[in-house]
Amino acid sequence: MTAILARAPVTDSPIPLFDLKRQQARLRFDIDRRIAKALDHGQYILGPEVTELEHDLAAFCGVKHCIAVSSGRDALIMALMAMGIGPGDAVLVPAFTFSATAAVVLTVGATPIFVDVDPATYNMGAAEIDGAVASAKARGLTPKAVMPVDLFGRPADYTALKAVADMHGLPLIADAAQSFGGSVGAKRVGALAPISCVSFYPTKPLGAFGDGGAVLTDDDDLAGIVRQIRTHGRQGDGDEAMRIGMTGRLDTIQAAILLSKLSVFKAELNRRAELAALYQSELSDICTQPPADTKSVRSAWALYTVRVKYRDAVRQALTDRQIGTGLFYRVPLHRHPAFAASLTGEEHLPVSEMLANEVLSLPMGPDLTDEEARHVCDSLAEAIETV
Ligand SMILES: Cc1ncc(COP(=O)(O)O)c(C=O)c1O
Repeated sequence: MTAILARAPVTDSPIPLFDLKRQQARLRFDIDRRIAKALDHGQYILGPEVTELEHDLAAFCGVKHCIAVSSGRDALIMALMAMGIGPGDAVLVPAFTFSATAAVVLTVGATPIFVDVDPATYNMGAAEIDGAVASAKARGLTPKAVMPVDLFGRPADYTALKAVADMHGLPLIADAAQSFGGSVGAKRVGALAPISCVSFYPTKPLGAFGDGGAVLTDDDDLAGIVRQIRTHGRQGDGDEAMRIGMTGRLDTIQAAILLSKLSVFKAELNRRAELAALYQSELSDICTQPPADTKSVRSAWALYTVRVKYRDAVRQALTDRQIGTGLFYRVPLHRHPAFAASLTGEEHLPVSEMLANEVLSLPMGPDLTDEEARHVCDSLAEAIETV
């Protein structure tokens, strides 16, 4: 501990949780050039950059289809609509995630069934699926899908989840909003489930300068339906609405920005992994760590989230030292007012409750320096010691 404290700089400059300004400065010339090109051709909706991005993202993940859409949330809604999920149906979702994961299920008229997560990975536990399916059926609902989330960038255990979901005849829909760039073995996120939905919200590993998302799949039929839904239910340029759709397209200018970011994305993923390893080695004696990358499972490291006792006091001590942190998530989904009507009152989700009290996300991003990351570690150690 003393050795760590000895390294703490005397004067601290603020370290934000995310620093998008540095990345923008690094890429600004190329982004300006690409935006200017889009303005010159003027195809603001589904312009050539969208087609190019869809091609490059599909190739990056090794899937047949990428449909670029307006947000991660809309990607999930379109996937659920394309799978025909609606009133009377149930979709299993983790209780410890961002609210959108459950909100999209309600948006299509179905009911989210909350499933507890694994304390080590923070991801949906396969062992919980049987009970959740039984509980949905007991309520007269028809289970239709299992929707794991790759929390903080780490892919869920799709092999284990699929084995149990298959026994119930349920497909997996990956809420991969946080994990684009992660991988398991030779497969990247996007290819780990029959349909995967990603977000390009600015702070995500691959982030636009506005909202954006994508649906990734190998399934020709699902891809065709999602493409229709994305544009008012129309087939191509046709006038007829073939189905109820949405205005769900990614803007051409956001696609241009994402193409620029994609050109450096692999290097950025490597940098995130380096920082995660640095955090892991500096903090392993100090607080509970997220699982490290292995040869097989690689996180996209959207966030580096530790667990600490007296979390709120520790967080305040870091805020006092001008270190930005995040609470993802302070309230598990079954405690959100918006989902009260989906509950039976018998939900038993102890791991989600525990995580909500203990998680603390530390600064992360490709432009964070080693020195800054070490300063975060030193300050965290000091804060834990003193609270
Ligand atoms: C797990 C999860 N699902 C869905 C979403 C929704 O994505 P978007 O903000 O792009 O709509 C997010 C965004 O933070 C998320 O973290």
